[in-house]
Amino acid sequence: MQRFTGKTVLVTGGNSGIGLATAQRIIDEGGKVIITGRDEATLQQAEKSLGENAEAVKADVGKLADIDRLMAHIGQKYRTIDGLFANAGIAEFKPIDQVTENDFDSMFDINVKGVFFTLQKAIPLLAEGSAVVINASVAGSMGGGLSSVYGATKAAVRSMARTFSGAYVSRGLRFNAVSPGPIDTPIWGRMGNTTPEQVKKTKDGRAEMNPMKRMGTVDEVTAAIAFLLSPESSYILGAELFVDGGVTQL
Ligand SMILES: NC(=O)c1ccc[n+]([C@@H]2O[C@H](COP(=O)([O-])OP(=O)(O)OC[C@H]3O[C@@H](n4cnc5c(N)ncnc54)[C@H](OP(=O)(O)O)[C@@H]3O)[C@@H](O)[C@H]2O)c1
Repeated sequence: MQRFTGKTVLVTGGNSGIGLATAQRIIDEGGKVIITGRDEATLQQAEKSLGENAEAVKADVGKLADIDRLMAHIGQKYRTIDGLFANAGIAEFKPIDQVTENDFDSMFDINVKGVFFTLQKAIPLLAEGSAVVINASVAGSMGGGLSSVYGATKAAVRSMARTFSGAYVSRGLRFNAVSPGPIDTPIWGRMGNTTPEQVKKTKDGRAEMNPMKRMGTVDEVTAAIAFLLSPESSYILGAELFVDGGVTQL
């Protein structure tokens, strides 16, 4: 399939995990990507591995000045874009009584404020008929006590798929959310549980809790994201597509 020929898509957090795999899929299907992230080294690596149809721009979604700079650059260089994957995010899982103000603020700054202002500031650049996908999570719909703050951030952005769709449907824009279950990406090594043994234990636990007794792969998620970004999903807006091995459904 070549669903992205002639199209340019902005992928925030495109230097790792689900974002990087989505960028690769869009390029494989004929498109161009602009990827963002905070880490200079992995941004450069990703730009190199994705090749000439990718541009990496360093931008922290938690900083409005960075989002402004990114959108100004896109406006100048590309004029418009045809899609946006609002993916950049962080996760920290802790019992409620151990959550600090810093945990709360950093997750809300990146996962909620970052997504809101990325969407808001991308609107003028989105060509008519563009699609936006927000990376939410099963945590937004589940009651795991360790994900009280993370789950709240993801419930918030799931709501934005509806409210932004309502506000911009008349401009031909569609906003949807994808909600992955546990997907094997570097995110599991970025939380408090940093030793390889602890990371493995956490991942094994997530696989065991899942009806399919395994984690999902990035390819399984990018298939859904590419569908929602493409005209194949032209009558779907404000929706949440779960890619979770059935963990929220069975
Ligand atoms: N993996 C899962 O099981 C899972 C399940 C449900 C939802 N999700 C969601 O999927 C998204 C991607 O996660 P992943 O699993 O692919 O993890 P990952 O490999 O750790 O990727 C996270 C990405 O977000 C970027 N990022 C984080 N904070 C940022 C900031 N302030 N500004 C710009 N970029 C930032 C990172 O770039 P830098 O390294 O440069 O900061 C990185 O590219 C997240 O929103 C996550 O909540 C993941």
